[in-house]
Amino acid sequence: MVFSLTKYDVELLQSKLACVVDDLRNKSFFISGASGFFGRCLLESLLYLDEANSLNMTIYAVSRDKENFTKKFPLLSSSKIKVIESDIAVLKNFTEKVDYLIHAACDTSADKLQNYPQKFLEENYLGTINMLEIAKSNKDCKILYLSSGAIYGAQNFDVKLRHENDFCGPDLQKISSVYGETKRLGETLCSIYSSSYGVQSSIARCFSFVGPYMSFNGHYAIGNFIRDVAEGKDVTLQSRSLVYRSYLYSIDLVIWLLRILLVAPRNSVYNVGSQREILISDLAQLVVNILSSKSKIDFCDTKAFNTSSSSRYIPSNLKALAQLGLEEYTSLEKSIENTFLWYQNNQIL
Ligand SMILES: NC(=O)c1ccc[n+]([C@@H]2O[C@H](COP(=O)([O-])OP(=O)(O)OC[C@H]3O[C@@H](n4cnc5c(N)ncnc54)[C@H](O)[C@@H]3O)[C@@H](O)[C@H]2O)c1
Repeated sequence: MVFSLTKYDVELLQSKLACVVDDLRNKSFFISGASGFFGRCLLESLLYLDEANSLNMTIYAVSRDKENFTKKFPLLSSSKIKVIESDIAVLKNFTEKVDYLIHAACDTSADKLQNYPQKFLEENYLGTINMLEIAKSNKDCKILYLSSGAIYGAQNFDVKLRHENDFCGPDLQKISSVYGETKRLGETLCSIYSSSYGVQSSIARCFSFVGPYMSFNGHYAIGNFIRDVAEGKDVTLQSRSLVYRSYLYSIDLVIWLLRILLVAPRNSVYNVGSQREILISDLAQLVVNILSSKSKIDFCDTKAFNTSSSSRYIPSNLKALAQLGLEEYTSLEKSIENTFLWYQNNQIL
């Protein structure tokens, strides 16, 4: 098989998953949201692990549009992957054996959230129920629910890190909070299925990421910066606000998700992301420097730093480090370098 991941990526996967890789042998894996950023990154990583370790896995990948999925993911031609073309909100009576399930499907488009918030909530609710039903009907199946740091609501600027036991939530008066509330509902459903039916669920509250398969044209600043530099354009910053973010490399993300799925205790929750914060304007400069680019940084607004719209979105990841022995394996500098190379070789995906 011809993989898009680099030697660095696959060696990282092999070494950091060596302790759990045997748990995947002869097992069947089910991924919802398989054609998305996380889904494709997980699929390619699993295909690599399967081939490198002769794991004899079966992988089910759900997508609403197989034709489009095939264009975005050439490895779909592998006989290892069985595509289920369906909307998960209506996917019932799936009777094949499933040992592990990662529920990564979620319609993250701004248009859906803004214009059809009720539909968004209902479809995600039904989809999560259907995924939990699959886990319930398979004895010993483990399911990982991909939640979000959005469940904590806006992070006050003076709060440095979000912890798993911060009991706070999104502002219910804002339509933009529907995403975070939907994720809270998903987590609640996992708790219900765990306590009522003994389903072995765990939860990953994901923050921000960079790496292979990310969207370079979406609303992720770091993806836009890398794309602009790759295309020899100036890097544009929308404002001079004090916006802090942190980024975990997408192959580190795969390692974290698989280790949580395979070894975390039932009904446990972990923040997933990096603790290394960086100001977005410094990030733009870092991308330009690391990639030795001649691109200039262009501020759309010419005002001085605007502190009224300051924001911070940074997880504490100490729980995952302490309980699961995970680490941030790839520095931000190396992540930018690797993502740039991946973009250059695979930008059509
Ligand atoms: N990317 C991030 O930075 C980030 C951060 C926090 C949380 N998350 C969560 O992680 C998960 C994966 O994120 P991603 O970046 O891969 O998102 P993505 O938008 O790239 O992929 C999601 C996939 O789910 C599919 N999907 C949506 N609704 C579906 C449905 N009803 N039936 C079948 N397929 C459906 C979409 O078509 C898409 O391919 C999501 O639940 C997201 O909310 C992601």
